[in-house]
Amino acid sequence: MKPPSAHARRGCIPWNGLLLAVSLLTFWNLPTTAHLTFESVPFNAAEGTDVLLLVHNVTGDLLGYGWYRGERVENNQLIASCRVYTQVNTPGPAHSGRGTIYPNGSLLIQTVTQNDTGYYTLLITKNDLQTERLAGQLRVYPVLPTPVITSNNSNPKELEDTVVLTCGPETPNTSHMWRINNQSLPNSTRLELSEDNRTLTLFHVTRNDTGPNMCETRNPLSVSRSDPFTLNVFYPVAQPSIEASNTTVTEHENTVVLTCRTNDTGISVSWFFSDQSLLLTEKMTLSPDNSTLSIDPVRREDAGDYWCEVSNPSSSSIGDPVTVVVLWRENGPALSMEVLTVIAIGVLVRVALVAALGFLFSSRGVEALVEKGGLHSLLGKGALLVPYFDTNAVTSSSGNPQDNPDLSEGQWPE
Ligand SMILES: *[C@@H]1O[C@H](CO)[C@@H](O)[C@H](O)[C@H]1NC(C)=O
Ligand SMILES: *[C@@H]1O[C@H](CO)[C@@H](O)[C@H](O)[C@H]1NC(C)=O
Ligand SMILES: *[C@@H]1O[C@H](CO)[C@@H](O)[C@H](O)[C@H]1NC(C)=O
Ligand SMILES: *[C@@H]1O[C@H](CO)[C@@H](O)[C@H](O)[C@H]1NC(C)=O
Ligand SMILES: *[C@@H]1O[C@H](CO)[C@@H](O)[C@H](O)[C@H]1NC(C)=O
Ligand SMILES: *[C@@H]1O[C@H](CO)[C@@H](O)[C@H](O)[C@H]1NC(C)=O
Ligand SMILES: *[C@@H]1O[C@H](CO)[C@@H](O)[C@H](O)[C@H]1NC(C)=O
Ligand SMILES: *[C@@H]1O[C@H](CO)[C@@H](O)[C@H](O)[C@H]1NC(C)=O
Ligand SMILES: *[C@@H]1O[C@H](CO)[C@@H](O)[C@H](O)[C@H]1NC(C)=O
Ligand SMILES: *[C@@H]1O[C@H](CO)[C@@H](O)[C@H](O)[C@H]1NC(C)=O
Ligand SMILES: *[C@@H]1O[C@H](CO)[C@@H](O)[C@H](O)[C@H]1NC(C)=O
Ligand SMILES: *[C@@H]1O[C@H](CO)[C@@H](O)[C@H](O)[C@H]1NC(C)=O
Repeated sequence: MKPPSAHARRGCIPWNGLLLAVSLLTFWNLPTTAHLTFESVPFNAAEGTDVLLLVHNVTGDLLGYGWYRGERVENNQLIASCRVYTQVNTPGPAHSGRGTIYPNGSLLIQTVTQNDTGYYTLLITKNDLQTERLAGQLRVYPVLPTPVITSNNSNPKELEDTVVLTCGPETPNTSHMWRINNQSLPNSTRLELSEDNRTLTLFHVTRNDTGPNMCETRNPLSVSRSDPFTLNVFYPVAQPSIEASNTTVTEHENTVVLTCRTNDTGISVSWFFSDQSLLLTEKMTLSPDNSTLSIDPVRREDAGDYWCEVSNPSSSSIGDPVTVVVLWRENGPALSMEVLTVIAIGVLVRVALVAALGFLFSSRGVEALVEKGGLHSLLGKGALLVPYFDTNAVTSSSGNPQDNPDLSEGQWPE
């Protein structure tokens, strides 16, 4: 049903004077009907909606109604009055242009705002000029927008900076709640909430404050959650370590899997091979987060030192290298003297070779030889590339380099 126009004046008797008279009467003529009530429908109104102050149990022969702002009957707070007989609304000084009194006394307020929040008083005047007065409340709440977390420092340094997170925009009569790492706030002296809980101060921020963090706003009408917010806390990354499946492997047969291990999160991983950024060959694959390097199958060119570097926006760290030794079969001629001479050069290289050959002797029981081409990478990069004969064409060894005084001295058995 369409409400009658609040501005209609058809046949309306000047009402204010009459009301003044009856409101005086009110003082010695207190309300007698216990059951007269009104309620706000809905109880908590959303800003922008229409609200009905619904009157119940109006009885008797009525002259008219008056609705007032506030808890008292004050003429300058009159919203509108309505005579039952004419059913015409007369706006009062406090009329906003959005209020309409129905013939049954209920007041419709259209498109309510926060400013409509507060007390309302209904004055009912009966034909015998007796009055009844009733006050009640209207609560208008905003429909909460999705809150957004802002930080006064987008790149704080761990344990150094104090960061203030704010949950905005500010809305009246709203309660706020925070979650850090999907958990309610811990009881910590490092954390401080503002009086209204809208801002959260993190003293000496740590990586544990990185998030994702969230704030939640709430009023009687709605609950709204922010998108997750991540704080980029700068901290030095720890040195990574490489975990290797196999560092001594056979060409074309074995797979090498190197994993860059770190306890830090929010890092990126990069790989180095022989002092350079690793160039991925078609045999190499990286896991989606780049932490694991697989070489399948391994080839002699893959022999050498591998490093991994982890970095976050504020720092990076390189771990110790891992040396991959590749064994490969060759049915070619025995090593020339030239090659053997070169072998005797470096003590370091020799020691590494002994270790590599020890593996060979013990597990394969074949003669180990160093190939010409392999020596360059061996000496230049500290890499180990070890060919061996798969036949019994050459003299068999004792099976253990320690038992072979010639070999441990760097001499090659002839
Ligand atoms: C109206 O009055 C009756 C009794 O007179 C009472 O039972 C009822 O609860 C009242 N209704 C409201 C909405 O107050
Ligand atoms: C008073 O009239 C309005 C508009 O017709 C209606 O919505 C409301 O329910 C009525 N009040 C009562 C108590 O019936
Ligand atoms: C509410 O009242 C304040 C002060 O009286 C005024 O500035 C503001 O514009 C009003 N808001 C609305 C939505 O009417
Ligand atoms: C909102 O809070 C203010 C005081 O901060 C209070 O006057 C007002 O009534 C409250 N509004 C509602 C709808 O509760
Ligand atoms: C952020 O606010 C805190 C507390 O007021 C202050 O100590 C800190 O310096 C501010 N950070 C920046 C970058 O303004
Ligand atoms: C956050 O915590 C709630 C329970 O407290 C859980 O149901 C939810 O899966 C968690 N979300 C994430 C992203 O961990
Ligand atoms: C938080 O810590 C303070 C001081 O350590 C203590 O007094 C308070 O009871 C604690 N609150 C909770 C909820 O654990
Ligand atoms: C602020 O949050 C605490 C719980 O974290 C709650 O006990 C307190 O009532 C809240 N204060 C306000 C003003 O919402
Ligand atoms: C982060 O939290 C973990 C686990 O609670 C704790 O062991 C570590 O010390 C914290 N780190 C910092 C920098 O506070
Ligand atoms: C590791 O190397 C050994 C000896 O070469 C080989 O038997 C084993 O299959 C290799 N493992 C993998 C996973 O390649
Ligand atoms: C990760 O943390 C564990 C336990 O604190 C420690 O044993 C391990 O060495 C750490 N790993 C790295 C790569 O720092
Ligand atoms: C992995 O490394 C490549 C470069 O090698 C880089 O482009 C890519 O972004 C990295 N991926 C991740 C998840 O860090």
